[in-house]
Amino acid sequence: MALFSSSTRQVPPTAVVPRHVAVIMDGNGRWAKKRFLPRVAGHVKGVELVREMVRACLERGIQYLTLFAFSSENWRRPQEEVSLLMQLFVKALEQEVEKLDRNGVRLRVIGDLSRFEPKLQELIRQAEARTAGNTRLDLTIAANYGGRWDIMQAVERMLAAQPDKRSGWQDADLEPHLSMNFAPEPDLFIRTGGEERISNFLLWQLAYTELYFTPTLWPDFNTAEFDKAIASFQQRERRFGRTSEQLADKPNA
Ligand code: IPE
Ligand code: IPE
Ligand code: MG
Repeated sequence: MALFSSSTRQVPPTAVVPRHVAVIMDGNGRWAKKRFLPRVAGHVKGVELVREMVRACLERGIQYLTLFAFSSENWRRPQEEVSLLMQLFVKALEQEVEKLDRNGVRLRVIGDLSRFEPKLQELIRQAEARTAGNTRLDLTIAANYGGRWDIMQAVERMLAAQPDKRSGWQDADLEPHLSMNFAPEPDLFIRTGGEERISNFLLWQLAYTELYFTPTLWPDFNTAEFDKAIASFQQRERRFGRTSEQLADKPNA
């Protein structure tokens, strides 16, 4: 069973920090181009900003941080860039996991990992095992992830779990099989880099998430920028289909 029922059935408070933040870290290539550097320099700088964001989440008591690092469509990029991204991923795992562990961060990687090299798969498995007991922050990296893939793999598993059921399926039948079944749905979604689209990220889970788009490129998205996104979130009223008056009256009715 999933730990959390769909957050659309209850209204979580927005005045506090979001419980779950999901981010599309976009704009590394353009950041590098502006500086006449190769695209990979933008990705290297991007890893530094991941470090800063993790620190900021720990300081602010945010419980879940989910980062889109590589989409199932990113294999379409030039082979050299794909291979450099994989090397960076390996290096980050080798260098950062100890520190994450020391800081109480639990690391998970979601996506179809079967397409990654065995060495990378093994590093992921080790990092997940090593940090499995940590509870301060749940850091999830989406790698070779696609929202449609996630829904399809969940449907397959849902059908296999109840082979005789023909109709009457509910959200709650599917949700335990989704990759993010351990977390509440994101409260705040951030996309840097100026595009205003979801690019096949968490399609099911973002149904009622507050969306924040900023032109700031990911390598420039520092803690001050993050605080602006949180402040924007805190001004919003999440209604989940209800009216303002109902919320003032009885927020969870
Ligand atoms: C995001 O930055 C990182 C990945 C997709 C791996 P981009 O590489 O997409 O940067 P832009 O969008 O080309 O600037
Ligand atoms: C989305 O960024 C995926 C990641 C940040 C990992 P892209 O740069 O690949 O998205 P599109 O192609 O602009 O939609
Ligand atoms: Mg991009």
